[in-house]
Amino acid sequence: MAGRFHYYEGYSAEQVVFPIRVMKFLGIRTLLISNAAGGMNPAFRVGDLMIIRDHISFFTPNPLVGRNFEALGPRFPDMSEPYSHELIGKAKNIAKRLEITLHEGVYAGVTGPTFETRAEYKLLHLAGGDAVGMSTVQEVIAARHMGLNVFALSVITDLGIREEDNVITHEEVLEAAREAEPKLTSLFKALISEL
Ligand code: HPA
Repeated sequence: MAGRFHYYEGYSAEQVVFPIRVMKFLGIRTLLISNAAGGMNPAFRVGDLMIIRDHISFFTPNPLVGRNFEALGPRFPDMSEPYSHELIGKAKNIAKRLEITLHEGVYAGVTGPTFETRAEYKLLHLAGGDAVGMSTVQEVIAARHMGLNVFALSVITDLGIREEDNVITHEEVLEAAREAEPKLTSLFKALISEL
């Protein structure tokens, strides 16, 4: 996909995941996702990449609420391995070979469109989040519901937890994402060649 639909744009959770369902019925078996995220792990720097190992989705509406369509998947899907350990292993090997530094962590999904307050970044970090963003978790839930394998990578575009003044702008997020793009592209290309 070139871009995606976000919940904060006013689409329902069901509308946000509709393209994922279409792609499943077009025959995909693996879903690769990228996103921009705010770093909360103190080891992270702007421009770093983070493999998403797990996520927290409680802060966004679950796209599976409502009638379950058995043709898509079960009523109560397992979420013990939302992000394929096998694909994470492959990505780590590729990153080593390409000398790309990768973090691995938990992505906390929020609705946006506001960036978080200082207290919110702190809370999300305490809750186990390493990065926070306004996308991905609903798409991953829908993908896992249908049994797709998922791999996802965050570009850390800003840092949420800092003592100094911490104004975050959309421009700096876009700029950091643009700068990290070549790293991201080479990693995804190599990963796709190994699928
Ligand atoms: N918070 C939420 N979403 C984001 C951020 C952030 O700091 N950066 C990029 N997307």
